[in-house]
Amino acid sequence: MSSSKPQIFKGLEGVYVSETRLSYIDGLNSRLYYVGYRIEDLVAFSNYEEVAFLLYFYRLPKKEEFELFRALMREAREVPPDVADIVKRMALRNAHPMDILRTCVSYISMYDPELYVGTREANIRKAVRLVSKMPTLVALIYRVSRGLEPIEPRKDLGHAENFLYMLHGKVPSEFEAKVMDTIFILHAEHGMNASSFASLVTASTLADIYSAVVSGISTLKGPLHGGAAEAAYYQFKEIGEPERVEAWVQEALKARRRIMGMGHRVYKSYDPRAKIMKELDGEIASKYGGEPEKLYKIAIKLEEVALKEFEARGRTDIQPNIDYYTPIAYTALKIPPELFTLTFAASRTVGWTAKVIEYVQDNRLIRPLDYYIGELDKKYIPITER
Ligand code: ACO
Repeated sequence: MSSSKPQIFKGLEGVYVSETRLSYIDGLNSRLYYVGYRIEDLVAFSNYEEVAFLLYFYRLPKKEEFELFRALMREAREVPPDVADIVKRMALRNAHPMDILRTCVSYISMYDPELYVGTREANIRKAVRLVSKMPTLVALIYRVSRGLEPIEPRKDLGHAENFLYMLHGKVPSEFEAKVMDTIFILHAEHGMNASSFASLVTASTLADIYSAVVSGISTLKGPLHGGAAEAAYYQFKEIGEPERVEAWVQEALKARRRIMGMGHRVYKSYDPRAKIMKELDGEIASKYGGEPEKLYKIAIKLEEVALKEFEARGRTDIQPNIDYYTPIAYTALKIPPELFTLTFAASRTVGWTAKVIEYVQDNRLIRPLDYYIGELDKKYIPITER
């Protein structure tokens, strides 16, 4: 045992584990880039399918390439029919939809003819198949859990548009499809976050790409990561009225509760994704009224009060992250809170798989160390003498 204690990076904070060309977060200046493109431009001019191409091939597609890629995605949307049985069985036991999704991804892996082919090309093909199926799985889980008939995917609709169609059985308006597409784009990739790292740990053992995504889903689930949007929604509901915000914040901070949807390990300024969602939510609130508008008013007031309180405590770095502002848009799209993290997972499957494909090109088993602080050479005492 070494005598001097090594430096321990709790939470791996500040530790770089790989090089990437996929995304860059400038946490001090509120910037996020995918392959060098600013997310504001991608949201304004691109779409989720094109962003997926960008993340797998590190460039924007030419027209014919995009059409072919989009056609491949549309062809791959269907899931094996027996998945519905798994969903039904798990829903009967009241499993959380996120647990059902994790099991479904694991289950459908056995249907992939290239499951154990680990070349870059095969990995991209598998990733595209899985990304295409994720919204189908989420919609299936939603409908079967509620005793509704599943709706088959339609090949004539865009990725986001088809997702809303499979959830509600109605082709969404252009505005709704754009909101959904924006949410998909903004969740597609985000540096070395906890779930991406979990995917890489799995992939670094040369396990298959589906297993890596299962690790990603399992890690995304927690309320400190992807589960924060669901928690933020219930937080807004608990507050109930914008007039109750002041008192609620005082109580919450006294009880050392965290404000869900605020704070970030990397952003020490405003999360640029949250900024985009906040603007969109403003538009949604005035268009839709009702619950989205009420949630929006609570969120705006809570942001104002919480930021003032954080500032008074010398913490100007705790600001809203993307999960703070997505619940309002989800509510307008009639996506219930228990599906928020699944929708995030459906989108992030691009990021997880693109990262895995990039990492295994120059693979190194991820195997850190832990510093032992227990005793050594203890005497074994037989069970009858303890
Ligand atoms: N509310 C209140 N206090 C906070 C918050 C918050 N949302 N975030 C940080 N703090 C304070 C706390 O005092 C905390 O101290 P504690 O451990 O004694 O409670 C301290 O700041 C820790 O701050 P950081 O070191 O900046 O935070 P860390 O990097 O460990 O955590 C995290 C970042 C987990 C996101 C945190 O801010 C948090 O829990 N936020 C709420 C959950 C959330 O919104 N998660 C979504 C993240 S974005 C995503 O995954 C898509």
